[in-house]
Amino acid sequence: MLKKIQNWFDERIQLTALIKEFNGERIPARGGWAYTLGSLLAFLFTVQVVTGISLLFYYVPYFPEARNVTYFIKHGVLLGNILLGIHLWGAFAMIFFLLVHMSRVYFSGAYKKPRELQWVAGMVLFSAVVVLGLTGYMLIGNENSWWTINVLTNVASHTPFIGGFLRIIIRGGTETSVLTMQHIFAVHVWLLPLTVIMFIPMHLFFIRKTGHQGMALEYKNSKFESGDINKWKHPDGTVPFFPDQFYKDMIVALAVFAVVYFLAVYFGAEIGPMYRPLALNFAPEADWYFLASEELLKYFPGHGLIIFSTTIIPVIGFAVLFALPFIDRGTERSPFKRPAATVLGILFLLLLVYLTLIGAEPKAPATV
Ligand code: HEM
Repeated sequence: MLKKIQNWFDERIQLTALIKEFNGERIPARGGWAYTLGSLLAFLFTVQVVTGISLLFYYVPYFPEARNVTYFIKHGVLLGNILLGIHLWGAFAMIFFLLVHMSRVYFSGAYKKPRELQWVAGMVLFSAVVVLGLTGYMLIGNENSWWTINVLTNVASHTPFIGGFLRIIIRGGTETSVLTMQHIFAVHVWLLPLTVIMFIPMHLFFIRKTGHQGMALEYKNSKFESGDINKWKHPDGTVPFFPDQFYKDMIVALAVFAVVYFLAVYFGAEIGPMYRPLALNFAPEADWYFLASEELLKYFPGHGLIIFSTTIIPVIGFAVLFALPFIDRGTERSPFKRPAATVLGILFLLLLVYLTLIGAEPKAPATV
């Protein structure tokens, strides 16, 4: 029976040949587990799409009601609690593993020529996923969401020349309103998911075209000189994607999903109190991945300096990261043979962890 179905498809779209072509991709042989991170991200994104669409059957992006609707999903809808929990912890897992995947790629120099396009497409994915997390946080519609929207749109208004205009565009007027929520909703459920859906295949296409570089340990027996760029096209050994890499990818995806499921069941998603637009003493709490950026705001207080934390540092930091393959043009990939890049990377990660930890300490109420 299965053979018959297979033949039916083969006569029309040569399905077997297509699957063979896909599964036959050669992967460097030694670092298999480190190369599961990319597939894990694609898997986690799929989980987000499935749970996100399920939530859409109930959710209403209307400010006074959004928080109560979310509360109803959690407490009144069959499996709503688990759906919300998986959507929240799945988002956290995706952002966390995005950082791990980027670090793997950075420390193995896999962004260098001819893999610049993989990195650039990756940076688009990174931006989209982080903003997805942020807009999702706002859609809960609770007190934190309300204040975060106000604080961030005020932060955007400090952008030189276009700040005021930017705030009006995001808010859909001068004040935060029902329209603001509608804008955030459109960005969260349409614009950003479509961006990710377009860029994942692009990212994979580029990887397929140049071949998977992997880490320096794949090139121990290379006959090419260390300065020769051809060295990084010929790993010592490769394995086919199926079954070698496929099973590793499956094991990691299922293990991470089990942890996400556990966190969703035991901790769930916190809904928080209804917003009070007239409250003057509320300190919004950012999600963990935004604590470092929020912390930066404290180091440059006041109108004269705030532009450093709202615009100058983030824009320069982001531009440098985006253009990394065009800035770092050395041919060496081993982290031990390019100490400057390795030390800078480690310092950056340490700073991120440090700012996140002190950002997690209790804060004074915000003034908006
Ligand atoms: C939704 C987000 C992402 C998905 C689904 C994804 C997917 C993948 C996959 C499946 C691979 C091959 C397997 C592996 O090495 O893990 C890969 C490799 C790669 N990714 Fe990503 N990725 C994402 C985000 C990023 C980001 C944020 C960056 C960097 C800014 C990035 C840069 C790269 C590079 C340069 C490679 C090639 C590595 C090599 O040749 O060794 N990716 N990605």
